[in-house]
Amino acid sequence: MSERTLVLVKPDGVRRGLVGEVIGRIERKGFTLAALDLRVMDRETVERHYEEHVGKPFYPSLVEFMTSAPSVAMVVEGERAIESFRTLAGATDPIKAAPGTIRGDLATVTQQNIVHGSDSPESAAREIKNFFPGLA
Ligand code: PPS
Repeated sequence: MSERTLVLVKPDGVRRGLVGEVIGRIERKGFTLAALDLRVMDRETVERHYEEHVGKPFYPSLVEFMTSAPSVAMVVEGERAIESFRTLAGATDPIKAAPGTIRGDLATVTQQNIVHGSDSPESAAREIKNFFPGLA
C-alpha cells in the first residue's frame, strides 16, 4: 500500500549536517522523495503543524526552536511509508530510541531529536498540505 508521509529534518539535524544521513536512510530503505524544501519555518506554519500540542509544557520552546533556523521538509513515498518512517526514526525520546534508528544512533535530547514523521494517514494529509499546498 503506497503512502505519503511528511518528514522534517529539524534545525538540529540541519545544523549538524545530518540531512544527507537522513535522506540516505530513507532512500536505502526503498522510499522515494516526492517533494523537498529547505526553509526557515514561519511561526504560522509551525503552529499549524503542532496544533495538537498547544498547552503542553514543551510547546512554547518547541515553536521557538522550530522557527530558529532552517529545516528540511520532504514528502516521502512508498509502501506503508508512515509507519515505516516512524520505525526508522525511533522513539521520540532519543535515550529510549533503539540503536539502529535515526534518533537512537544520533540524538540525546527530546527537543533536538533530528526528525519528525507523520503519525497517521490523517496527520500526513494535513501536514503535507501545510508544507506543500501545491502538491498533487
Ligand atoms: S506527547 O507528549 O505524547 O504529545 O509527545 P509526542 O507526540 O511524542 O511528541 C510531540 C512532539 O513534541 C516534541 N516533544 C518535546 N519537545 C521538547 N521537549 C519535550 N519534553 C518534548 N516532548 C515531546 C516531540 O519531539 C514531538 O515532535 P515531533 O516533531 O512530532 O517529533
